[in-house]
Amino acid sequence: MKYKPVKVGVIGCGMISDIYLENLKNKFYITELIGCSDIVEEKAQRQAEKYGIRKMTNHEILNDPEIELIVNLTYASAHYEVNREILNAGKHCYCEKMMCITMDEAQELNRIRKEKNLMFASAPDTFLGAGMQTARYIIDIGLIGEPIQAQATLTRGYHMIKSDDDDAARKYSVMYEGGGIPYDMGGYYLHELFNIFGPVESVCGYAKTRNAERPYLNPRNSKFDDLFTVNTPNTFSAVMQFKNGVFGSMNISSEYDTGRNEFKIYGTRGILSIGDPNLFGDSIILEKNDMSTQIPLYFPYKTNSRGIGAADMAWALRTGRPPRISFEMGYHALEIINAILACTDDKKVKLLSTDFERPIPLAADIYSGGAEERSLFIYN
Ligand SMILES: NC(=O)c1ccc[n+]([C@@H]2O[C@H](COP(=O)([O-])OP(=O)(O)OC[C@H]3O[C@@H](n4cnc5c(N)ncnc54)[C@H](O)[C@@H]3O)[C@@H](O)[C@H]2O)c1
Repeated sequence: MKYKPVKVGVIGCGMISDIYLENLKNKFYITELIGCSDIVEEKAQRQAEKYGIRKMTNHEILNDPEIELIVNLTYASAHYEVNREILNAGKHCYCEKMMCITMDEAQELNRIRKEKNLMFASAPDTFLGAGMQTARYIIDIGLIGEPIQAQATLTRGYHMIKSDDDDAARKYSVMYEGGGIPYDMGGYYLHELFNIFGPVESVCGYAKTRNAERPYLNPRNSKFDDLFTVNTPNTFSAVMQFKNGVFGSMNISSEYDTGRNEFKIYGTRGILSIGDPNLFGDSIILEKNDMSTQIPLYFPYKTNSRGIGAADMAWALRTGRPPRISFEMGYHALEIINAILACTDDKKVKLLSTDFERPIPLAADIYSGGAEERSLFIYN
């Protein structure tokens, strides 16, 4: 084989680990999944057996001389510590969103990755999927004319707390600091807007925790109807000015669930509805001249391809190019969320200090089946 697969270890075997383990093992040629670990040993055991990989401890993954890349799938409150350990162990790191909670933590991670010359990036990687790559392409070729404004609205409830969850506030990340709705869903919308428009110049906004005391909703939970406290904002609204002059607004809440999810880019010659950035192949609808047209998805990875960001990083390691998801993108997203939270307190518009290069798109040619991955390999 011309390009040797990169050996990968996964830390964190919770809810999202299934699709990552499946894809890192079977979907991508360039990743060779070696093992997984979790602070709850049985979880690591279960996933290791299910995917035919080694059940390891964090220590074993961090010190395995063959593992080059570690994927951090722990919950948000553990991201910083685990990322720091991964980088200090001299391993490249791909972390689920977001990389950490505070800007001080991000600066420390940035320092270590630079000092050790390591690749480090954080999710979401859904913008590398067929839907969001097609949306960017349609805008880039001018089908909506000059883009003027972007608008993202999402509401979702908190009913997804698992019935066997003993500590909803900790484990269900939408209720927990660092994983709350600004960091969690905000990250998807921001990364897709970065993909389309590049970096943001300034931002202002408000965030609040509405109804902090709330009951467990699921009658199957032993704490059904007991109260728990939400310790993170569950509703925010923000306005951004991108460096290219486009205005963007986000209204996102986990306080109430209307099932409403709208993500639209308005241009001088049309409107593009770009679907759910949490998905890889949602519908892209062009509204123009009083007609709506569904756009065929021009790119590969239409189905759940989580792990594609880590696979892209693995290709970057083997071919010597930068990863499509840069450290700077995640850093910029984190700064925006922190700026919105700060603005809530001081009511002052924030000029951003972080910046990034707009990521290189996937190859627009249609590759199917086993050749799909060529679209990650091509980088120009
Ligand atoms: N659940 C989803 O639908 C979803 C979707 C996309 C992204 N994500 C992101 O993926 C990450 C994980 O989410 P999840 O839903 O799988 O969470 P989860 O709580 O189900 O799983 C996290 C796992 O990490 C383990 N863990 C915590 N600290 C650890 C440590 N120091 N060392 C080893 N293991 C540790 C926990 O024991 C747990 O098994 C979060 O950042 C989340 O935002 C989740």
